[in-house]
Amino acid sequence: MEPGPHHHQNAGSTAAEWARRDTAAVWHGFTQMSVYADSTPVIVERGEGNYLYDTDGRRYLDAISSLWVTTLGHADPDLNQAARRQLERISHSTLLGNGNTAAITLAEALREAVPVTEPHFLFASDGAAAVEQALKICFQFWHNRGVGGRTAYLALGRAYHGDSVGSLSVGDGGFGTDLFDPLRFPVVRTAGYDDPDWVPKAVAALDEHGHRLAAAVIEPLVQGAAGMLVTEPAQVAVFAEAVQARGIPLICDEVATGFGRTGALFASELCGIRPDVMCLGKGITGGYLPLSATVAASGIYEAFLGEDLGPRTFYHGHSYSGNALACAVATRHLELVFERGLVDRAAAAGERLGAALAPVEALPAVKEIRRRGLMTGVELDPPPGAARWGRKVCAAAVRSGVLLRPLGDVVVVMPPLSITDQEIDTIAATLVSAIEETAAE
Ligand SMILES: Cc1ncc(COP(=O)(O)O)c(C=O)c1O
Repeated sequence: MEPGPHHHQNAGSTAAEWARRDTAAVWHGFTQMSVYADSTPVIVERGEGNYLYDTDGRRYLDAISSLWVTTLGHADPDLNQAARRQLERISHSTLLGNGNTAAITLAEALREAVPVTEPHFLFASDGAAAVEQALKICFQFWHNRGVGGRTAYLALGRAYHGDSVGSLSVGDGGFGTDLFDPLRFPVVRTAGYDDPDWVPKAVAALDEHGHRLAAAVIEPLVQGAAGMLVTEPAQVAVFAEAVQARGIPLICDEVATGFGRTGALFASELCGIRPDVMCLGKGITGGYLPLSATVAASGIYEAFLGEDLGPRTFYHGHSYSGNALACAVATRHLELVFERGLVDRAAAAGERLGAALAPVEALPAVKEIRRRGLMTGVELDPPPGAARWGRKVCAAAVRSGVLLRPLGDVVVVMPPLSITDQEIDTIAATLVSAIEETAAE
């Protein structure tokens, strides 16, 4: 682990002191706060490239892209400049009933990039909100067309679409969220990507329930939060065809898979499908600012056109929709992804990562590795009774300067698109040691 450059701000504060202040004031999501401070959390002070620096100047390779958002690395000079330029103009103005040039420019740029026909973009701030919007849009789509009885959604087992009540409903159980079951609306649930027969089962569900579906929602190609469950592009294509042939809108949640992570700009492209509605988030700003978007094809969007103040209007919107600062960064980010050839680079880096992880997969403590592009899940195989291997392996990796975070006993590896070959080798070597250390305990 190399110490980073010295920092003078907050001089005298140790990481432990920051952790104490953190615990006293901040409530962290998906985190048990009673043990948080004792779990040696990394308290980040700054970032540069693919590294994070903590309050003691220690550096960590950000091998999870700060929970799957960072694409170009941290504090990218070009992206910083785009942010500064927009900051000089304006940070935010409302998109409700009015516009801003940054949001328009971004929508125009994305229009050329997304595999959605004549798209319109409804902006929000988080992935869950983009999913929530997609669900409501599809619900009202039928209402606007005068069709009743289409109030259900088809969703897959092991799915994760976010934590708002609607996105939680289309998501499957787990992650400690089962207590919210009484709040979830019922959905038509069919098998996830861990079932090789997920497509025929989904088609059977479409045959039985298709008449009452408002939409079908999937994470194309990779079910990320399920522990990187992967399927084949051809399978997704068969499913999409079955949904769309029945006139049911297909929602592709590309919050995690979008912006190069699978080795294509969008997973839907790899599958050769054109969703009716798409959800974008996470990497849309390169991991800089909270921004998400629900993308609607013209066939959906046009059903909402009607009289002023009339019932066809989509009565939904967020305060920060189309935030100008976030949109300007997102526009520049998309340009940089193309200018730097990062999608191809991600595909090549994904291959390299796959090869580098061969020694990890060979370990007796590893059950399997699932991967598509840079989205990787290393499933551990703990002996009966061995608790929290995922956590222990990640803690050992963090001590060696590689930031990882598990999903149960699956160690997620999802580096930025800017990851170098050398850094990929570092991740793999660190993982071997971390797993061996944990298994030997
Ligand atoms: C596929 C998918 N959809 C939606 C979300 C929710 O996004 P957010 O955490 O930004 O609300 C996530 C987050 O991990 C995700 O992986």
